[in-house]
Amino acid sequence: MAATDTSIIILAAGKGTRMRSDLAKVLHLAGGCTLIEHVIRACRPLKPAQLLVVVGHQSDEVSAVVEALGAESVRQQPQRGTGHAMQIARRAIRKSAKLALVVAGDAALLRPETLEAMLDTHRRGEAAATILSAEIADPSGYGRIVRDSEGRVQAIVEDKSLTTEQRSIREVNSAIYCFTLEKLWPRLSALRPDNAHRELYLTDAIAMLRQSNERVLAYVAPDANEVLGCNTRAHLADIDRIFRARKSAALMDSGVTIYLPETVLIDRDVTVGQDTIIEPGVQLLGRTRVGAQCRIGTGSILHDMRVDDHVAIFPHSNLASSHVAPHAQVGPFSRLRPGAEIRSGAHVGNFVEVKKSVIHEGAKAMHLSYLGDASVGRGANIGAGTITCNYDGVEKHETKIGDGVFIGSDTALVAPVKIGNGAYVAAGSIITENVPPDALGVARGRQVNKPGWARARRRMLAATNHNLKRSSKRKSRSKPKVRRRPSKSARRARRAR
Ligand code: UD1
Ligand code: CA
Repeated sequence: MAATDTSIIILAAGKGTRMRSDLAKVLHLAGGCTLIEHVIRACRPLKPAQLLVVVGHQSDEVSAVVEALGAESVRQQPQRGTGHAMQIARRAIRKSAKLALVVAGDAALLRPETLEAMLDTHRRGEAAATILSAEIADPSGYGRIVRDSEGRVQAIVEDKSLTTEQRSIREVNSAIYCFTLEKLWPRLSALRPDNAHRELYLTDAIAMLRQSNERVLAYVAPDANEVLGCNTRAHLADIDRIFRARKSAALMDSGVTIYLPETVLIDRDVTVGQDTIIEPGVQLLGRTRVGAQCRIGTGSILHDMRVDDHVAIFPHSNLASSHVAPHAQVGPFSRLRPGAEIRSGAHVGNFVEVKKSVIHEGAKAMHLSYLGDASVGRGANIGAGTITCNYDGVEKHETKIGDGVFIGSDTALVAPVKIGNGAYVAAGSIITENVPPDALGVARGRQVNKPGWARARRRMLAATNHNLKRSSKRKSRSKPKVRRRPSKSARRARRAR
């Protein structure tokens, strides 16, 4: 159901001092996305009337990111607290909105289901405010939900202001709320900065609602992890770890085998097909899509890759922005740079780098090669150590290798150059001119054999050695000249001169 009467306000103006970073807190990455992107994506399924982000620190950078994600932004400058942030937001909130869902910009683990359930609690309870709370094992640092003897929410008490009794309360404020706007606005205008930070606290507006006997509810999040904010790098690592675990669990549920899932890093938007096996230490990043029945070898890193079904990526391969077609094999230790196209059944082996090149069906480049700006024809065989010399220091040039070509080992193909279908190139060649179809191209010094040369050389060396030894023996017999250090007095005398 679309929440057409609801504006979602994401508070993201704070500095995040404890992150100790030049980067705005909400732009830090966890699970492969910025924190703010996770929050926006959790809000979108509610189909609110409006998604409004309050920006402040690095407002230009944060605005650019949120606007690209389809949200609006409004600037809070300077930042005088969460209550002040809502006063600023008020100007940009749709007049038609009846409810506001207020979400912290760093609550990256929040799920849409939880927001929906909270909104539902608010509506059905006809509340003025509903707080998303959670029971957490270590509540230190958080504001606590104080309830009366009948379990009704009384107040939110900040960590610094807790009494000894209240300190044991484990239900905390997530800083995620739902407000009925006509009830909120008068309290917002009445906020005063009566606290150590001289800030306007949105939590004070909730206290005011309670004082005037308005209904305030708390919806307890089913998974306490969801309300975790991100104030420090340690929190960021926790959030990232939880995301990775969620992602791996979802993939395993859908039929992917992952060995040692705690060692793999799979970004939010990655997809993997059924019966694919992911070995330990693999990273699947960005918008990578892996098909079914594949194997991704240990230590491999795939970024923005498209891998079709039945592909084997052997260990320690580093692949980016490229396509691998069905039944192809890549690795171990291969590198695909952007624009590599490995067609069906082709093999790219150890220490082979491919950039902006098509390796056609069934072609093989198994060892120690560089293929850049090249096209390798069907069933061609690229010998070990083949290099396409694509760069002349100014421009890049293309190499075209035809179908069924055989390139001998240690060949340099100086682009632009074409090797015709079915041709051979002799090992060790430096090819600077086209080779016609079915021809043999040889481009290296012709071999000359000199009979007996090695034996003659050995004899010559043996004779020289013999002479050398004799002359050195003679020298060692004569008394060695030793240059003695001048005596102390002699040295002093010299210095005096
Ligand atoms: C807040 C709550 C606390 C709760 C905790 C949960 C208050 C007074 N306290 O504390 O009860 O347990 O969150 O994480 O609200 N922001 C602005 N403009 C400002 C100030 C803050 O946009 O002027 C934004 C921040 O960027 C952040 C959010 O509001 O996303 C929360 O502010 P923060 O300073 O992190 O509040 P906490 O001290 O963590
Ligand atoms: Ca916080």
